[in-house]
Amino acid sequence: MAVSERSQKRKKRRNSVLFEQGAGKILLRLKVNGETREVATEGSKTLLEVLREDMGLTGTKHGCELGECGTCAVLLDGESVLSCLMLGVEAGDGEIVTVEGMMQDGKPHPLQKTFAALGATQCGYCIPGVLLTAKALLDKNPHPSRDEIRQALSGNLCRCTGYTKILDAVELAVKGAEAP
Ligand code: FES
Ligand code: FES
Repeated sequence: MAVSERSQKRKKRRNSVLFEQGAGKILLRLKVNGETREVATEGSKTLLEVLREDMGLTGTKHGCELGECGTCAVLLDGESVLSCLMLGVEAGDGEIVTVEGMMQDGKPHPLQKTFAALGATQCGYCIPGVLLTAKALLDKNPHPSRDEIRQALSGNLCRCTGYTKILDAVELAVKGAEAP
């Protein structure tokens, strides 16, 4: 990692940790789903643990906690990141979006609509991570090919659907975006 990148990360961390006590207890300020929230937590907790355990945002799921399944994916400054592989303090003053923040003007996101319309969800456990990773793709590339969709979602494992309906649902959302 470049030196400037390291010092930027340290600065971000300084900005987000409001108060430190003994035994690793901290008061952390994070921007989640458009709101700035302060939460008492521990410096050693992953972003996944902070979101689920300290903020009650249980839409973000934990799976392998090893960076292999994609179930814990959230958006950080528009990029899909694995929340099990980073500390909460590392999110700094970045903009975090979880599945709870996908609604737009009180309505489901187009991806949520097409996943529901095509029955692309079975047990649903992987779906928050899939939806957010697909959203990151469409926000950058509104008209991806099926291969680009497949590539973007290649880190999100699903043990139920066989992936076809997931790819179909993302493609349908792309077509919706293209509709006049
Ligand atoms: S729980 Fe994070 S990648 Fe599996
Ligand atoms: S819908 Fe069950 S793991 Fe994907």
